[in-house]
Amino acid sequence: MKRLSLFPDTISIQDDHLTLAGLQLADLAREYGTPLYLYDRVTMDNAVAAYMDALSAHYPAPWGVTYAGKAFLNLAVAQWARQSGLWVDCTGEGEIAIAAAARVEKPSILVHGVNKSAADLESALRQAGTLVVDHLSELEQIAALAPRFESLPALWLRFQPGIAVDTHHAHTQTGQYDSKFGMTREEWLEAAAFCKAHGLPLTGVHFHQGSNFRDPEPLLPAIELALDLAVEVGLTGDWHFCPGGGWGMAYHEDELPNPPIADYVRGVAEAVIEGCRQRGLNLPHLHLEPGRTLIARAGVALYRVGGRKLRGDHTWLLTDGGLADNPRFALYGARYSALTVTGLGREWVERVHLAGPYCESGDVILKGLMMPGIEAGEWVAVPMSGAYQLSMSSNYNGARRPAVLWLENGQARLIQRRETLFDLLSRDVGL
Ligand SMILES: Cc1ncc(COP(=O)(O)O)c(C=O)c1O
Repeated sequence: MKRLSLFPDTISIQDDHLTLAGLQLADLAREYGTPLYLYDRVTMDNAVAAYMDALSAHYPAPWGVTYAGKAFLNLAVAQWARQSGLWVDCTGEGEIAIAAAARVEKPSILVHGVNKSAADLESALRQAGTLVVDHLSELEQIAALAPRFESLPALWLRFQPGIAVDTHHAHTQTGQYDSKFGMTREEWLEAAAFCKAHGLPLTGVHFHQGSNFRDPEPLLPAIELALDLAVEVGLTGDWHFCPGGGWGMAYHEDELPNPPIADYVRGVAEAVIEGCRQRGLNLPHLHLEPGRTLIARAGVALYRVGGRKLRGDHTWLLTDGGLADNPRFALYGARYSALTVTGLGREWVERVHLAGPYCESGDVILKGLMMPGIEAGEWVAVPMSGAYQLSMSSNYNGARRPAVLWLENGQARLIQRRETLFDLLSRDVGL
């Protein structure tokens, strides 16, 4: 079944039960309750291997893979990143704290942020190996803080190439000319001059054009522009180059197959090698910064259907989660697919919309999917739920964030418990 390939690598159907890493999803839903998030380690490891194999095949100088923690970061995921030899991209002191708690070593912590607070910067200067600078006044703050630190992290300046990638929604583009992220060519050169004047350790160029794109074409001119900057400021020897992350994945069987990670990596590596050759530049350490492609397909969200309403040509299936654990439909019309966890042999007889229990019409998980006649009390499994869902989750309508399970070697381990009513009130002090 085509829909099955949206699920993690260990998915199978056994005795008419959807089974992940050897565990029946119905058993997990019964034991841990729903909404429930599952992460399949094998799928995450396979994704890391795809990047590392392609980089070692196509890039002859040092390289590294940085996991973009914004996709989903908690203690277990940060520990996994450390065990997997990944750097961790942390946005601000909150994610730095998670990475540090997971004992990610200082050289492997890279910090991003478009308007880092004083606390973010102090935390980065203390705990990170690399700091990606977004704009000149951030650099001025770093220069002011520098005397308090024995050494500084390596500084990469974030370039805004002014070239968009096609991500299917403007809210997931970052590299276009009017983007809030990074520095124009002129700003970047001014920031580089500031580093030189103040003895700050500028070692790299960074840019990121958007998230979830399939056409690598716009990367090529952006790489050229960024290499020009490296030439202009004389970055040589041990210098670093990062064209961000953003490689896309299929979320719906209509979009299959997934664009191969190896093609993306080879394209980037060849462009950097050729661009450096033409400019007489030493090959940089090449860093890739994926989030989604490392973790999205490893994640599955499980929901219980509580009711159904026939409306025109579709049936609303009302689930026990939605917007509060996955705002992606509401934010940018993300598409999803789903399967039931039992009764998989049934014919798909109706077009369903899955919607959650929250007081927003945008509280939708998916629309227009052919499914069997699902009854109240059944569970549905939504694949491609590993990235940018829980990391953007909320307590809207008093929702408590779901429990998260880690599936490995036929075992399920609770890596994040479900929030409780106590958690909901724990920050409040009252009048
Ligand atoms: C700076 C930066 N790096 C990496 C990423 C990861 O992108 P993705 O999860 O699409 O690979 C993002 C996401 O937008 C980002 O902003």
